[in-house]
Amino acid sequence: MKITFIGTGYVGLVSAIMMAYIGHEVTSIDIDKEKIASLKNSIIPIYEPKLEEYLKIAKEQNRIKFSTEYDDKIFASDAIFVCVGTPELPSGEANLEYIYNSIDCLINFLHEKSVIIIKSTVPPSTCKKIDSYLKAKNLNCHIVSNPEFLREGSAIEDFLNPDRVIIGVESAHAKSIIAKIYESFSLRNIPILYTDLASSELIKYVSNCFLATKIAFINEIANLSEKIGTNIEDVSLGTGLDRRIGIEFLKAGPGFGGSCFPKDILALKDLAKKNDVNINILDAVIIANNKRPFDMADKILKILEANNIKDPKITFLGLSFKSGTDDLRTSPSLEIIKILQKKEMNIIGYDPISMKYARKFIDNLECADSYLEACNNSDAVIITTEWEEFKFLDFQAIYKKMNSKIIIDLRNILDRDSIVKKGFKYFSIGRKDE
Ligand code: UGA
Repeated sequence: MKITFIGTGYVGLVSAIMMAYIGHEVTSIDIDKEKIASLKNSIIPIYEPKLEEYLKIAKEQNRIKFSTEYDDKIFASDAIFVCVGTPELPSGEANLEYIYNSIDCLINFLHEKSVIIIKSTVPPSTCKKIDSYLKAKNLNCHIVSNPEFLREGSAIEDFLNPDRVIIGVESAHAKSIIAKIYESFSLRNIPILYTDLASSELIKYVSNCFLATKIAFINEIANLSEKIGTNIEDVSLGTGLDRRIGIEFLKAGPGFGGSCFPKDILALKDLAKKNDVNINILDAVIIANNKRPFDMADKILKILEANNIKDPKITFLGLSFKSGTDDLRTSPSLEIIKILQKKEMNIIGYDPISMKYARKFIDNLECADSYLEACNNSDAVIITTEWEEFKFLDFQAIYKKMNSKIIIDLRNILDRDSIVKKGFKYFSIGRKDE
């Protein structure tokens, strides 16, 4: 199928490359000239494991083109995927400005068989409103909702093997087109759920908000677990093994971050409020997650105090909001750093991937070029992102570099016994540490 993608952000870029990889003929458009120039040179502007290799394959097979121009190729497309950002407005409401800008740019190239597939996360009824907007301009196109569920860091696997594909569609022509686009998925028995437009739009918000709720819940249970001396890792596993609950997204840590959960919770709350409905649980999720960095900062300060450490130098290993990504948006790590900076702590940060952006997010953050440099004369090493390589650091070398030998593992990725055997004092989340 001939497919046009609008937007080369996270969702747009991964989807365009992977749709080309599975055999479609893709044109990916973005008004950002710099991004398109770098993609033409096969340089991916985001960090996503293996994406560059898939781009190479798609290019070798001549199935993907990048462009800054909206042109006649759009007219000949079987479908147009809109994948632009929908950041939150100060009220929490999703900002649909970029969606309508891209619809306006498409207008000259639309006809009665055009299928516009909204992949961006948008509040229920947006697709209907786009349909009316186009109808008012005498354009009877076909609008489809097809939300995306891929996660940064595991986007390729999530694209190729999704738990489900959700399609909101209310026209037979559009349904036949989207069924062809996803044919290779239905042949592999991946569930494809067809719904009305608004239900599909809502599914995306409910999914993200539910996952965020699980995390906020387990983090509060981790607080309790620390107080009563139980082991949160066992509690999560033992609870999650009940298939009605599920083990995923029950990992306690420094709180959820990123660009999607925080924004989608606010957008769903805004939608509910406009409809005179309270989703009280979401208020609790926001309160719990906003408090999380303060809890973590408190925990760090208490450990330092209990160990009589004055004027400490603190090392943060991990700055991105989770492993596998260079994304620093709403990163719990940076939130904790900001709180400690206000207390005039001497902090140095290191991240294997996101260093080049870190200073943009925090002006006065000192960053090191290696983890060992970051640990030099440090009194406490705080692990805030669960990078795989942090499990295999040279702890003997770290020990020699450090001043006070304290490790605070906010992701519970290290093995306590082996770290303690190496001479460190080890502290973690949701467990009795001493
Ligand atoms: C999330 C959803 O998981 C995707 O399905 C969705 O497509 C995406 O948002 C989106 O709307 O675009 P993402 O933001 O990439 O994906 O990251 P997640 O892997 O969901 O992690 C979100 C946050 O929760 C991270 O800070 C992570 O560290 C935290 N988390 C996750 C936990 O603290 N514990 C867990 O058990 C799982």
